[in-house]
Amino acid sequence: MKRVIFHQFGKPSDILTVEEVTKHSPGPDEVLIRVLASPINPSDVMFVQNLYGIRPQLPSGAGFEGVGIIEEAGANAKIAVGTRVSFTAIGSWSEYVITNHRTLIPVPDAMTDDVAAQLFVNPFTAVAMVEESGVKEGEWLMVTACASALGKMVIQICKMRGIKTIGTVRRNDLNDELQALGLTEVINTEEENLPKRVQHITKYEGVKAVLECVGGQTAADAVKCLGRGGIMLIYGLMSLQDPTVNFGLMVFRELTLKGFWLTDWMKRTNAATRQHVSEEVLTLLSTGQVQMPIEAIYSLEDIKNAVIHAEAHGRWGKVLLKP
Ligand SMILES: NC(=O)c1ccc[n+]([C@@H]2O[C@H](COP(=O)([O-])OP(=O)(O)OC[C@H]3O[C@@H](n4cnc5c(N)ncnc54)[C@H](OP(=O)(O)O)[C@@H]3O)[C@@H](O)[C@H]2O)c1
Repeated sequence: MKRVIFHQFGKPSDILTVEEVTKHSPGPDEVLIRVLASPINPSDVMFVQNLYGIRPQLPSGAGFEGVGIIEEAGANAKIAVGTRVSFTAIGSWSEYVITNHRTLIPVPDAMTDDVAAQLFVNPFTAVAMVEESGVKEGEWLMVTACASALGKMVIQICKMRGIKTIGTVRRNDLNDELQALGLTEVINTEEENLPKRVQHITKYEGVKAVLECVGGQTAADAVKCLGRGGIMLIYGLMSLQDPTVNFGLMVFRELTLKGFWLTDWMKRTNAATRQHVSEEVLTLLSTGQVQMPIEAIYSLEDIKNAVIHAEAHGRWGKVLLKP
């Protein structure tokens, strides 16, 4: 079977190769899945560069999630062969993967492969972070890099909950689409003074929460946008630049800056909360209430062009790999 592999850390388009490897049988708690589609997410790209929270064991597969059909199930995996499932596994950019049966989410018929392939990483994070932000109907939530797949989900979830959103972008060409999704106010950080605009929009109250994934100057400015007792959930670092944070503001507004990592959230939350978030994600995506657009589809063999496209500016949707 074909699998995308890297033997050293580095720029994905330089080091990823497609290799023929042996297809194994699953262990008792595992399943063998024939992969139908898998997205290229920023976390996948960071993993290949050894910039992620899990260190790759070289040589390593790449890609963390996807959708596929169960081809073989271990003795303890109570799931029928032939079931279409969304899964997580290290090495999802492959014709087949083996993963623990506990990571599987059976996919409703109404959900397309393109949506099911992206079911876990961004949708769970978006719903869980909006919950964890504590922002209520009528209050302001800010999301940086809001044209990202995750940002677009947050905008749509907030709209449904009556939460007002401010989103930052670094280019203006997607503003109409973002506002059509439900974004209340858009701010271009390349052209505008972020804290000043936010103070004006919120009538000097500031926002209740910021969901932040850019870092650098955007993150430093975003802290200044928080109102008294506000919280910033930090879930990414797209610029790879650590911000300088104003401690005075943190003290005198009693702000909270907190990291958010879905991997740890899955471990620290109770089963009832995980179930609640899972049901909300499945409903939002299978009913089409939340859109998850696709930008392009590539084969595994075209992995270099696929990762270059995924890292390019100006995308509206995800890049998917289909074996
Ligand atoms: N902590 C967690 O558990 C968790 C889970 C899921 C996702 N995430 C994080 O969420 C973030 C978004 O993921 P995604 O899949 O939604 O991403 P995506 O769809 O690939 O979009 C990436 C976005 O980041 C913007 N961007 C890239 N570099 C930037 C920079 N230097 N300054 C400002 N904006 C920049 C891009 O803007 P342009 O379009 O202008 O290029 C684009 O809007 C990533 O950081 C990812 O790691 C974290």
